[in-house]
Amino acid sequence: MRLRLSRLEWQDEHLEAWLFFTAIPFQTMFNPLKQQYKRNMKCKDSMGKSFLLIGGSSDIARHLASLLLEDGHRVTLLARDSDRVTDLVEQGADLVQGDALDEAIVQNAVAHAVEQGEHGLSGMAHLVGSIALRPPHATKLEDFTAVLHTNLTSAFLALKTAGKAMLKPGTGRMVFTSSVAGSYGLTNHEAIAAAKGGIEAMVRSAASTYAQRGLRVNAVAPGLTETRLGGRVLRSDAIREASVGMIPLKRINEPLEIAQSMHWLLTAAPDNLTGQILHLDGGMSNIRG
Ligand SMILES: NC(=O)c1ccc[n+]([C@@H]2O[C@H](COP(=O)([O-])OP(=O)(O)OC[C@H]3O[C@@H](n4cnc5c(N)ncnc54)[C@H](OP(=O)(O)O)[C@@H]3O)[C@@H](O)[C@H]2O)c1
Repeated sequence: MRLRLSRLEWQDEHLEAWLFFTAIPFQTMFNPLKQQYKRNMKCKDSMGKSFLLIGGSSDIARHLASLLLEDGHRVTLLARDSDRVTDLVEQGADLVQGDALDEAIVQNAVAHAVEQGEHGLSGMAHLVGSIALRPPHATKLEDFTAVLHTNLTSAFLALKTAGKAMLKPGTGRMVFTSSVAGSYGLTNHEAIAAAKGGIEAMVRSAASTYAQRGLRVNAVAPGLTETRLGGRVLRSDAIREASVGMIPLKRINEPLEIAQSMHWLLTAAPDNLTGQILHLDGGMSNIRG
């Protein structure tokens, strides 16, 4: 009993040793099925929970917020631009206004979302993003690092802060937004490929780190999607035609499709799903059309 109570503290204090000893029999010994069953039951009860959307003003996040509100959940939006979420606030969402790279703002948003849920923070989705399409030799270092910070650093901040809040109740789901560029070599996409590839690797690592602590960490990886950000890529009819031509299913995603997938990962996906990247790209990353 004493060993079981001190396990998590021991894991945090002695990370090196923990990594050495992370053999399956060791974990199984301290994680009886009964405890796992209790967690599964908690995940199934999905009504009236609290969710935080970081990058809450994004076109995809707006659909995701509506889906969660329709379910009767509490929704907190971290967004820079309050005008873009006025309608969602009118429907019952809470707004924490600010920059997703400001640690204090992210902490405030997480703390607010924790207070809204009977069991604390049930789910967090990260949808902050930007894009800069240039070949490396024509990319300024500051433009490269800006893309990394906006996409990857803000995702880490979200993971770190929301994850910490979820450790106490020992349950919670996190969903990040990668891109087809994270796993498929696309011309002039080096900056966003580095950022989104980093997110995918980070998701797998975090899923492992928190697997035995009740957290589930996954990502969606959309192909081109009809949003403001997608519009920056699809600047002309010729680019649109060429882009669609590369997609086996010959069409561009609707933002609602991405939101529905994230909604499923946050609320209804099996408890046994973690460390996965859900590719919503018309088959682009895996098949030849
Ligand atoms: N659309 C696509 O084709 C596509 C494809 C693959 C992946 N994705 C990913 O999908 C996610 C959502 O993007 P979207 O397509 O819905 O486009 P979007 O509407 O342009 O969303 C991007 C969001 O990021 C927010 N943002 C950027 N920097 C921020 C910061 N420092 N602090 C707070 N918010 C910040 C923007 O806020 P403001 O409203 O204040 O500008 C905006 O809401 C992104 O991660 C993107 O990389 C999109």
